[in-house]
Amino acid sequence: MNAPMHHSPPPPTLRAESIGKAFVSGKLRSRILDDLSIAVEPGELTLIAGPSGCGKSTLLAILSGLLGVDSGRVLALGHDLGQLDARALERFRLHHTGFVFQGFNLFPALTAREQVELPLHYLGLSKTQVRERAVQSLEEVGLAPRMHLRPAELSGGEKQRVAIARALAKQPDLLFADEPTSALDAANGQTVIDILHRIARSHGTTVLCVSHDPRVIHHADRVLRMEDGRILDDQRNTPAGATAEEPSP
Ligand SMILES: Nc1ncnc2c1ncn2[C@@H]1O[C@H](COP(=O)(O)OP(=O)(O)OP(=O)(O)O)[C@@H](O)[C@H]1O
Ligand SMILES: [Mg+2]
Repeated sequence: MNAPMHHSPPPPTLRAESIGKAFVSGKLRSRILDDLSIAVEPGELTLIAGPSGCGKSTLLAILSGLLGVDSGRVLALGHDLGQLDARALERFRLHHTGFVFQGFNLFPALTAREQVELPLHYLGLSKTQVRERAVQSLEEVGLAPRMHLRPAELSGGEKQRVAIARALAKQPDLLFADEPTSALDAANGQTVIDILHRIARSHGTTVLCVSHDPRVIHHADRVLRMEDGRILDDQRNTPAGATAEEPSP
């Protein structure tokens, strides 16, 4: 986890430069990303919005080192991901990235605490450290009282909070979320967004989220609109609480 942020603008921790990506199936080659560039900053919740099929999930996979590019390059925390071999990439992903999915991806047989502990065992932490970090992350998402429950005993919103705690416990510099609220009702969706936002603020994490959800779009610090394999629009939302006009006394 990063030190608390000081407020000179931090350098981008995640940058894609003119990346191109195509998928080939049979004789058909479809270009998904086309000369796309993007820079994402720490301490913020950045949102990618765009129509279904425009390449959002593909972009997240590339920026998190899961998928390679055909052209251009990705710079993450000073690494050129295209230059890392499979082992180094795996290490990079383990130590620096967390991922939250639409479908939670929890193991049915494990309790909330065990779900969060599982990836921590690969980080070379002691048993005590693993336990402490897991409990601390579950506390941070408000789930410590339910840490002994299994997915079948948790609501959708609670499951997603377990998934967030699991990503958070790794103390990643980069946190990716692909449509984390789309399986949730309004109230639970709002809670998840608030948590992602708070993680960015309080840990200086770079949080990059893909979503169609208007509530997420409204709450993000920055919204990138994607279409036809490119970023078409890059807008900053005004900070929460700030209004254009001063209230009259
Ligand atoms: N592994 C793959 N092989 C072939 N085509 C793929 C592969 N992954 C994605 N695609 C294609 O790339 C395009 C973009 O997919 P992607 O999942 O990135 O879109 P998306 O913006 O996340 O859409 P949605 O909002 O529906 O999740 C789609 O047309 C999809 O069929
Ligand atoms: Mg998608």
